[in-house]
Amino acid sequence: MSKLKLLALCVFAFCLGVFASEQPSGVPELPPGAIQNKARTACTTCHDAHIIVQQRLSKAAWGKEVDKMIKWGAIVNPSDRDALVEYFSTNFAPDKPAYVAQRSAPSKR
Ligand code: HEC
Repeated sequence: MSKLKLLALCVFAFCLGVFASEQPSGVPELPPGAIQNKARTACTTCHDAHIIVQQRLSKAAWGKEVDKMIKWGAIVNPSDRDALVEYFSTNFAPDKPAYVAQRSAPSKR
C-alpha cells in the first residue's frame, strides 16, 4: 500500500471515530409525560438532561430548583411552573432507584 493510501485510510478512520463519538447516544431522554416537550425546551438549552435525571429531590427541593433555573434564565411560562415541579418530583423523587450513568465508551460487558 502506498503511503498516501495509508494516510487516507487513517484520516478516514479518524473521521469515523469523531462522528461516532458525536452521536448523542449517551444523553438520557426526559421521561414521557404531558409536559415532557416543554421540559425539554425549557430545561435542556443550557445543559442536557443528565444533570436533571441524576437528581433525587423532594417536591419542595424541585420547586426551589425550578425557580432557581428560572432566575438563571430558563424560559418557563408561570402557568407551567407547578406542572414542571410535579413532573420532576414524580419522576425524580428520593424514593426512586439511584441513577446509573451510561458509559459512552464501549464497556466490557
Ligand atoms: C439559562 C440556562 C439554564 C436553563 C434554561 C436551565 N438551567 Fe439548569 N443549570 C444551569 C446551570 C448554569 C447549572 C449549573 C451547572 C453546573 O453546575 O455545571 C444548572 C444546573 C442544574 C441542576 C443541577 C443542580 C444545580 O442546581 O446545580 C439541575 C437539577 C437543573 N439545572 C435543572 C434544570 C431544570 C429542571 C431546568 C428547566 C426548568 C433548567 N435546569 C434549565 C443553567 C440552566
